[in-house]
Amino acid sequence: MFYCAGSLRQLTFRYKIAHIEQNVIFARMKKLYIETYGCQMNFADSEVVASILKDLYTLTDDVQEADLILINTCSIRDKAEQRIHKRLHELEALKKKHRTLQVGLLGCMAERMKEELLETEPILNFIAGPDAYRNLPELIAESAQGEAKFNVLLSEDETYDNIMPVRYDLNGVSAYVSIMRGCNNFCTYCVVPYTRGRERSRSPQTIMAEVDQLLQDGYKEVTLLGQNVNSYRWEEDGEVVTFAKLMEMVALKSSQLRVRFATSHPKDISDELLEVIAKYENICKYIHLPVQSGSDNMLKKMNRVYTRDYYMERVRKIKELMPDCAISTDIIAGFCGETLEDHEQTLSVMREVGYEYAYMFKYSERGGTMSAKRFQDDIPDEEKTRRLEEIIALQGELSLASNQRDVGKTFRVLVEGVSKRSADQLYGRNSQNKVIIFPKGEHQVGDYIDVTVTRCTAATLFAD
Ligand code: SAH
Ligand code: SF4
Ligand code: F3S
Repeated sequence: MFYCAGSLRQLTFRYKIAHIEQNVIFARMKKLYIETYGCQMNFADSEVVASILKDLYTLTDDVQEADLILINTCSIRDKAEQRIHKRLHELEALKKKHRTLQVGLLGCMAERMKEELLETEPILNFIAGPDAYRNLPELIAESAQGEAKFNVLLSEDETYDNIMPVRYDLNGVSAYVSIMRGCNNFCTYCVVPYTRGRERSRSPQTIMAEVDQLLQDGYKEVTLLGQNVNSYRWEEDGEVVTFAKLMEMVALKSSQLRVRFATSHPKDISDELLEVIAKYENICKYIHLPVQSGSDNMLKKMNRVYTRDYYMERVRKIKELMPDCAISTDIIAGFCGETLEDHEQTLSVMREVGYEYAYMFKYSERGGTMSAKRFQDDIPDEEKTRRLEEIIALQGELSLASNQRDVGKTFRVLVEGVSKRSADQLYGRNSQNKVIIFPKGEHQVGDYIDVTVTRCTAATLFAD
């Protein structure tokens, strides 16, 4: 899973053309600016929102000219929410300048804080939770009459399955496809089950239709998204589609289409799924398998429902079936009652797995979660920082060692864009999700090419 924040990715050249054409036809169409924070699911949701509003607004990447600003928010840690408050205050000046400007808040923070937000953030015209986006046209119209509105109802079956997202993030090469929503796992520290509601899978027919459309539009890579994709399940007429089956269906669509997925909970990473990943060349050999902690005491307290031994057995199975498979993880430092011994266990599980990459966080207490109710957030912030820094330093070593092992190897790379460092260089990712930078030559974005790695840093591989 990738945690991004800040202004959303730029409009593509392709979208810009469509955008200009639309402007010619609908000269007075209003402008929508969307800013997205948080996980990939929020980015996928913003594309659904753009689709729901496409007959009412054209997208803009210039906040100054927007008639409607939507901020799609994340609540996962306190810092994520503080950042949104700051952003809303920055936007106040714009709202004073443009009296008819509407500002709406979407996503997990809307769901967590509900109507309370309308009182604390008077800039907001409306708020909509993650299952209320179909209702956005009404919320926008009603709140334009003056009174702030909200819809934070969670649904048991909303998957936006018939909505074809507007791909405005584009490099035109890789796209997210949401296959399920919500989470039933209730890890004690986590707010997601409360902000996203119960787990529900989207029908395979609509997922495949979206993949078909992406293929027609020239996409080369799809990432199947959910909080816990390996518990995907669809049952119809006595037939069951598991995540492994779904992956196979997508992989068989075209050998030219790369398939990725995020995120998988270690408890559900079945042999059946690993065998499918191993079997198909176009399913990327990269698994994000969040461990959270290396200590059984902490794992139990976190309600992760696996032990360190079980986790390591799954890692060994992955390596046995796919020796070249990269594994990344999420780690929380300083969870309630974490001793130095527990922390050492986390460092040792990291060494034992040898992660290619890790997303590392200090524990942040979230109101309403089990850990906030039951446990004391008793590790002082400076100590959490110290432990986190140790974890980050170790991961730096592991990532560098992993990259050094790749020097001299040849990888197939899907070209994603021009390198930020130089217009003469392109970048792409290999199956293991590592970024490789190489000379442009005759290659184009969207090409598959084989490159040989000549040198590396902890973050990047370079090829000739
Ligand atoms: N569904 C995914 C994770 C989604 S949240 C999974 O289970 O793997 C992404 C990551 O944020 C989590 O894996 C966890 O490491 C981190 N996280 C969640 N709640 C947190 C909290 N309260 N404090 C710090 N980190 C947290
Ligand atoms: Fe949160 Fe756990 Fe669900 Fe992941 S699996 S979203 S960490 S409750
Ligand atoms: Fe954040 Fe919600 Fe995703 S809390 S991590 S945006 S599911």
